[in-house]
Formats: sequence, C-alpha cells, structure tokens
Amino acid sequence: MRIEVGTRAVAYDDTGEGQPVVFVHGFPHHRKLWAPQLRALSAHSRVIAPDLPGFGESDMPERFSIDAWADGLARFLDALGIERAIIAGLSMGGYITLAFWRLHQDRAAALILADTRAGADSEEGKQKRRETIELARREGPTAVARTLLPGMVGKSTRAREPSVVATMRAMLESASVDSIVGASEAMMNRADATSSLATIDVPTLIVAGEEDVLTPPRESQAMHAAISGSRLEIIPAAGHVSNIERPAAFNQVVSEFLAEL
Ligand code: MLT
Repeated sequence: MRIEVGTRAVAYDDTGEGQPVVFVHGFPHHRKLWAPQLRALSAHSRVIAPDLPGFGESDMPERFSIDAWADGLARFLDALGIERAIIAGLSMGGYITLAFWRLHQDRAAALILADTRAGADSEEGKQKRRETIELARREGPTAVARTLLPGMVGKSTRAREPSVVATMRAMLESASVDSIVGASEAMMNRADATSSLATIDVPTLIVAGEEDVLTPPRESQAMHAAISGSRLEIIPAAGHVSNIERPAAFNQVVSEFLAEL
C-alpha cells in the first residue's frame, strides 16, 4: 500500500485489527524486516510497517534526519487517522522511536525498543560512518552490505540459518547509495536521547539479541535501568536483527507485552 504524507508517498503494510502497533525498521533495511511480526501478531493487533522515506518503496525524504523521520511518523499516523499507537523500532528505528517520544509523546501508547541504544555516536562510531559513506560512494551498496552483514546477523544465525543471512543480504543490497549516505549522516548527527529516558512513562519493552555486537545487550540494560517500569527481554542465540533471527522468541515476548497493555 502507499499513502501520501505531505508531498511524498510512503509505502507500508497494514494488517489485522485492534490497537495499532507501528514497526520502524533499521539501517539500511526496509519494511519487510518486520514480515515475521506482521504475520504472527496480526491475529490480535493492527500491525503496520512503513518503509522509512528513502528506503524500500517509499519516496526519498526532503532531508535525512532522525527527528524528520520521527515527525514524518506522526504525519503518517495522521494520514492513517490514528491518534495513538504503540511504536516499535529496531536499531535506527529505535533512535527514531526515542525521537518520536521526545517530539510527539502524546501519540505514543507504548514503546518497544529492539536492539538499539539511547546514546549518540562516539567519535569511533562517527569514523565508522564516514568509512561506510566512502565505501558506498566508491563501491556501492553491495560492498556496504558485505561489510555490515557480519555485525548485522548474530554468530549462531550465521552458522545455522543461511536463509536469514540471504534475506538480510538482499535487504542491505537493495538500499540506494544516496540513502546509505543520508541515513549515515542522520545517525551521526542524532541527538543523545539518554536524558529523555527518565521521562518515559508509558509501558516500554526493551528487547535485545544476546549476541548483538552492534548494540550490545549492555545498552539495553542501561535503558532498562533508566526507564522506570520497563521490561527487558534478552533473546538467546540472536544477534542485531533479533526479530528476524529468532522470530518465535521475539514474537512471544512482544505478544505477552501487548496482551498486558
Ligand atoms: C541499524 O541496524 O539500524 C544500524 O546498525 C544502526 C546503526 O548503525 O547505528
């Protein structure tokens, strides 16, 4: 499906009925990252997964920025006629979810923060982004995918689930150079969300893959300590894309969380 949000079209999947849950993908993913959740959770909830502007089948954004994507998410909810939703974000999607909380908290019924962190990039992190940008410009998305993939997928999944690795490789390779560059710059320039964690007063589920090396479980533990009443779930034998590596375990913790709301 596609919907006009301002002057640009956003592609999205929308299935099921009940309380809306909006799933926000990471970098450089698209909405199909959430296919296992849409399949499983649509029995009890309305589950919606947009392609962030610049990714998948959505139009390019006016500018790449985490706050602009968060504002765009609020306008996307307006376009769908949704007042409040549960916002679930993985990694870069989690940065956007935390920005959404800062900018539009009255629109968030609950939060799900998966394999993400609250802090801004370190100097070392920024240097890695510059290298990704250079590689994208010099050799294109396939080279970027080759570099990112080992960190993206956990070691157990890499050893046992070649189909998950293939799915992620195809997803990473589908991103355009402009979007890889734009999103890398957006992440480099994002605000540190640590101080806003204490303001979160809606039910919050934090999920992390045990083997996530990009946003290690200690990041999730720190967010859990800072968000009063939050729930933390560690998914065994899963890496950074825990939702697609161990979908049954991920869906189980999300279903339990949604059922308790
Ligand atoms: C992601 O999966 O969205 C990225 O790993 C986030 C990042 O590079 O900080």
